[in-house]
Amino acid sequence: MRIIQCDSKEQAINAVASMVLEKISAHPASVIGLATGRTMEPVYASLAKLSRDSETDLSRAFFFMLDEYLGLPEDHPSSFKHYIKTHVLEPLHLNNSQFAFPPVHAPEGALHYEQSLKEAGGVDLQLLGIGTNGHVGFNEPGSLKNSRTRKIELTEETLKSNRDQFVDELIPTEALSMGIETILEARSLVMLATGKSKADVIKHLLNHHDDPNCPATYLKSHPHFTLVLDPDAASKINLNI
Ligand code: GLP
Repeated sequence: MRIIQCDSKEQAINAVASMVLEKISAHPASVIGLATGRTMEPVYASLAKLSRDSETDLSRAFFFMLDEYLGLPEDHPSSFKHYIKTHVLEPLHLNNSQFAFPPVHAPEGALHYEQSLKEAGGVDLQLLGIGTNGHVGFNEPGSLKNSRTRKIELTEETLKSNRDQFVDELIPTEALSMGIETILEARSLVMLATGKSKADVIKHLLNHHDDPNCPATYLKSHPHFTLVLDPDAASKINLNI
């Protein structure tokens, strides 16, 4: 596990955006796994700016979405699909054909998604945020290390922290998410945590291994797991370990 402790939030955001851009510059047909959440919004804005400035061709890259709420109408403004359209697809001038979203409206959607990942040759770089309860994607506490893409019931803590992202009262209580084992199959993982609200979970992440109560700890066994932190998220850890 590599930890990059940044001097500012902006530096952390740019570091993550640069990693994605470098991956695509080196291998234009890279497969990138995307995460949503407030943490990732500025990363995608930075990626749009960096790719524009460097005139990087993103047209051969392919993007897999990590998770999606269940029960929302297609293209609901609070869906992750809509988020990706607003923060990634449009600003980066990409095509719909470059994206795969968890098929939440199809029966057997989880199986199909696993199949699509396999057919695409797997994910080269998976972006990840972290929930205050240690969830990754929507793998809530209690998730197993060998879990695959599946339907997950969201915890009260997750519902509470995501509530402000909903434009109306309709808050789904279930989601379809890549599993932990699915995520671990990506060739590299990049997790970003920013802000004081993540300080406790980052401390827990660094002090525990394979803890089902904090699924992010499973990722530490990945040979290419990079954790990028801003000063607030790193404020409760002692890196002299
Ligand atoms: C969401 C997503 C995760 C995300 C996490 C943190 O519910 N399913 O992929 O990493 O919660 O979100 P935020 O960055 O808004 O704190």
